Amino acid sequence: MSDKLIIFDTTLRDGEQSPGASMTKEEKIRIAKALEKMRVDVIEAGFPIASQGDFEAVQAVANTVKDSTVCGLARALDKDIDRAGEALKGANSGRIHTFIATSPIHMEMKLRMSPDQVVEQAVKAVTRARQHTDNVEFSPEDAGRSELDFLCRVIEAVIDAGARTINIPDTVGYNVPEQFGGLIRNLIGKIPNSDKAVFSVHCHNDLGLAVANSLSAVMNGARQVECTINGLGERAGNASLEEVVMAVRTRQDIFSCETSLDTTQIVPCSRLVSSITGFPVQPNKAIVGANAFAHESGIHQDGVLKSRETYEIMRAEDVGWSANRMVLGKHSGRNAFRTRLQELGITFEAEEELNAAFARFKDLADKKHEIYDDDLQALVTDANIEAENEHVNLVALKVCSETGETPDASVTLRVDGEEKQGHSKGGGPVDAAFKAIETIINSGTDLQLYSVNNITSGTDSQGEVTVRLEKDGRIVNGQGSDTDIVIASAKAYINALNKIIAAADRAHPQL
Ligand code: KIV
Ligand code: ZN
Repeated sequence: MSDKLIIFDTTLRDGEQSPGASMTKEEKIRIAKALEKMRVDVIEAGFPIASQGDFEAVQAVANTVKDSTVCGLARALDKDIDRAGEALKGANSGRIHTFIATSPIHMEMKLRMSPDQVVEQAVKAVTRARQHTDNVEFSPEDAGRSELDFLCRVIEAVIDAGARTINIPDTVGYNVPEQFGGLIRNLIGKIPNSDKAVFSVHCHNDLGLAVANSLSAVMNGARQVECTINGLGERAGNASLEEVVMAVRTRQDIFSCETSLDTTQIVPCSRLVSSITGFPVQPNKAIVGANAFAHESGIHQDGVLKSRETYEIMRAEDVGWSANRMVLGKHSGRNAFRTRLQELGITFEAEEELNAAFARFKDLADKKHEIYDDDLQALVTDANIEAENEHVNLVALKVCSETGETPDASVTLRVDGEEKQGHSKGGGPVDAAFKAIETIINSGTDLQLYSVNNITSGTDSQGEVTVRLEKDGRIVNGQGSDTDIVIASAKAYINALNKIIAAADRAHPQL
């Protein structure tokens, strides 16, 4: 019987540390629910001490998610650990992940602590965390550049203190696969009490080796991999969940372990994270890129038609590339609409919510002939986004765009209950719309990113827009979708403005 490989997702913590990928509490909950549905074992929801916003997000995820373990990160400090323990109180299954650096450079230059002091603080931290939960993970930060004997000493001591998961981070992405696999093998072999803990790995992608290093570690005894959707994460990112999971699943002849993930949720999850963070997925990205299962060359197409296995090692449908079924149209009724949403895992708590979604569906069906699953998902997401806009809402937008003329926009917004009008010209229709909105809001924000993706194919497809705004160091992403991309753009801009206005304490969770 093969071992279980625990999948620990850190999209909401390390992933959020990608510059520009900050997420609101509601967005974190949406992603956490998708991860739970995918049957991820552990969800690292954030770094509770980093800010009030982070604390509340971890708390909300802990209170919402029931089937996955929810984890909070803490430095090896009492105040961090107690804050994480507090945030996780409502979790069905909670884990505290505490860490301290163990490499000579980090101990000397960053911590200014001696190796003895580091061991003492690590043990103290694990002991403190055990007062909150039995489920404690310890990471020797920068393990990839730490000395083997010292690592063995720290790890043996924290296992004695009660750590049940030992995570080995290649914090700066410096290792290469053979070396990293050897490190894991040596640690497990040399540490006398290593059998009392699960060994985990957390690899960064600075040399593009995060997935290869993680898999090499698994071949050498690691039984938890820390990873993120789309490989999001600090600098060049973390090991990508979809690549690790599908490598293990596809090469069962090599790996003596299995995950319990529902892999058909991979593509929907990837899209959700991409749309919330505004980080597009490159077309040739393994598993989740638009071209991952496309065959361009005639020889390949011919081969696949004769026998799929000639050029495909995985089935697109196994990772959630649905045929994107055309499900509904203008004449579809409320029941058909409700049933298809249920099949997609979308349910409504109140009948009025279903009615509102159905009204939006009818509007969309008037503009777009064929409604696909992805349209339905976008429609529901768009409604959620609008419901989250606390201060500013779009009432109406008119934009004139004509050859040889400067585009001109007129907008009506509801701002804290009061309707206001604005007008502006602009370099293009989107620019004019944003400027018209700014004549009312005057936000003082800086536009950092504007991106449009089509949700389905065809010129009547809905456009999904992400807008990233910055103000006083705070970065937010707004989303909007519509068959009219100027309206989708205005919605995304307004959503981002709402986040800036509502911004509570959302400091960057980096140390
Ligand atoms: O990269 C790293 O070392 C980390 C630790 C906190 C596990 O993210
Ligand atoms: Zn990391």
